Amino acid sequence: MLMNPNELNKTLSKLPLGEIKYFESIGSTNDEALAWAANDAKDLSLVIADEQTAGRGRLDRKWFTPPDTALAFSLILRPTEDERPHLPRIVGLAALAVTDALKARRLTPQIKWPNDVLVLGHKVAGILVESVWSGEDIDCVVIGVGINVLKGSVPPEEVLNFPATSLEDELGYPPDRMEVLFEFLDNLITLRPRLSTDEFLNRWAESLAFLGEQVQVELGDQPPVLGQLLGLESDGSLRLRDGHDKTVAVRFGDVRLRPLT
Ligand code: BTN
Repeated sequence: MLMNPNELNKTLSKLPLGEIKYFESIGSTNDEALAWAANDAKDLSLVIADEQTAGRGRLDRKWFTPPDTALAFSLILRPTEDERPHLPRIVGLAALAVTDALKARRLTPQIKWPNDVLVLGHKVAGILVESVWSGEDIDCVVIGVGINVLKGSVPPEEVLNFPATSLEDELGYPPDRMEVLFEFLDNLITLRPRLSTDEFLNRWAESLAFLGEQVQVELGDQPPVLGQLLGLESDGSLRLRDGHDKTVAVRFGDVRLRPLT
């Protein structure tokens, strides 16, 4: 069933959001949100679409959003002065808002650093955080979130880089897209004031997939880093123990994380 914009507005009116733009079909909600953020979008404004025809993932990958099946939205944050030193943690904020919504449904999600949410080793959601700059400063952050809600949202196997699943597959029933969206936003709004705290960083680190395991991090055109996944640095970088027993930090960027099997 298509999303009903009246129901969407009514459900989300319970949250302290900015404005909401709904599209039956759009290229990419992140593109729309970036353009809006560069203009006058208020903090916590939302762009949401039933279908994306040019959805984007990290590392220039395509993100599949067929109609009536998925959640695809972009939330605009105008960071406060207190939040500015912690902007690299925003991807963790979004990932924890997803994992909390899934835990409420008794699933056991994990975060595949930096931006994927897994259930039993299969990807169920992806996050793409992009920024709008004003000179040297970040003016706005756009949090793009894609969640495979119904079975039909899982891309065909031949185009997958990583095994994928949907909430419907994992739960055994089709959850309501609107409820999942509401819970994500509610969780993010609740967690946001704790962004700078150690408690936040610890929760994020404890949710990581492959914690304590040997992993391989591919770094664009540089040699991969192999090591044991120890946790996170204060700025959200990944902390590994390499083969020489040295602690190394891997920053965000052109990175792919794989378990070393
Ligand atoms: C990834 O896994 O690489 C990130 C995927 C992010 C997809 C979402 S769907 C809503 C928003 N609009 C986009 O074009 N991308 C993000």
